Amino acid sequence: MPRVLSCIQPTGSVHLGNYLGALVNWVSGQHDGDVFHGIVDLHALTVIDTPGLIGTQTLELAALLFACGLDPDVATVFVQSHIHEHTELAWIMECTVSFGELSRMTQFKDKSARREAEFVSAGLFTYPALQAADILLYDADEVPVGDDQRQHIEITRDIAVRFNHRFGDTFILPKAVHPKAGARVMDLQDPTSKMSKSATSDSGLVYLLDDNASISRKFKRAVTDSDSEVKYDIANKPGISNLLDILSASTGKPVGELVSQYSQYGALKSDTGDAVIAVVEPIRTRFQELMQDKGELARLLSIGNERARNVAAVTLQRAHNAIGLLPRI
Ligand code: TRP
Repeated sequence: MPRVLSCIQPTGSVHLGNYLGALVNWVSGQHDGDVFHGIVDLHALTVIDTPGLIGTQTLELAALLFACGLDPDVATVFVQSHIHEHTELAWIMECTVSFGELSRMTQFKDKSARREAEFVSAGLFTYPALQAADILLYDADEVPVGDDQRQHIEITRDIAVRFNHRFGDTFILPKAVHPKAGARVMDLQDPTSKMSKSATSDSGLVYLLDDNASISRKFKRAVTDSDSEVKYDIANKPGISNLLDILSASTGKPVGELVSQYSQYGALKSDTGDAVIAVVEPIRTRFQELMQDKGELARLLSIGNERARNVAAVTLQRAHNAIGLLPRI
């Protein structure tokens, strides 16, 4: 079974696009590989500086991942900052990557440009070295990522090749793979843009933890077009097509079958809202149970942390040995 690593930053609330587009596949794919899911809180520090916030967000994200159905006995869910090997290997990675390579990262160029008047941390610049450590520590064969992260997987491979060449074979070369395509979920108010937490307004975003009334309201107010034919046509009817995609992903019924069942927008909107509620309500209930039982949540998380730590410790030691650092006395 391939070792597969995915990581997610605990920034912002998880929305329906994250869930139907990716998380459902994490859950259904947990038996297809030896999967590791890191909550990368240290990466989020490159942009978060409010005291206390990151810990709460980390715990909530962990609870949500378990509530969605990741089984700690099958999938390894861990918190990056709880495994000290990440930051230790990250330093070694920083010494294996060049200033020039880091300067060419498009994500750094974009993010630092967007923060022009704000503080641009050195961490934002060395971020790919920490990400390389995340990946190489777990001997990951596959890293499912979107296009925005491909360059980071490439630089990880370059770092691994350089390290192995300098110090002898130590790291497995990871491969970026396309995540299994999930549903394409667009903003309900702007159905030509993906549902995304960087949207200017929240009104087109459905969060996994929204209450039922807000979910219904957001679907009832979803932007459609002025004619009244229910038809799947992404170019000309993006709003209706989005509703059909969401309804299909939430019920498991093919779009073709759904189209013929509706002649009015109103019914399609309210049924889509109901179908989404049927999917997210049990997740929200389980999430709330876990948040009220911090002992159980800590127990679930410690299963993954321990497994992750065992793998990471061996790899870091291998790197120390290859470099020839003086063994601990
Ligand atoms: N940089 C990734 C993102 O912004 C998050 C991430 C951190 C990551 N470490 C990783 C992704 C390791 C894959 C593997 O989405």
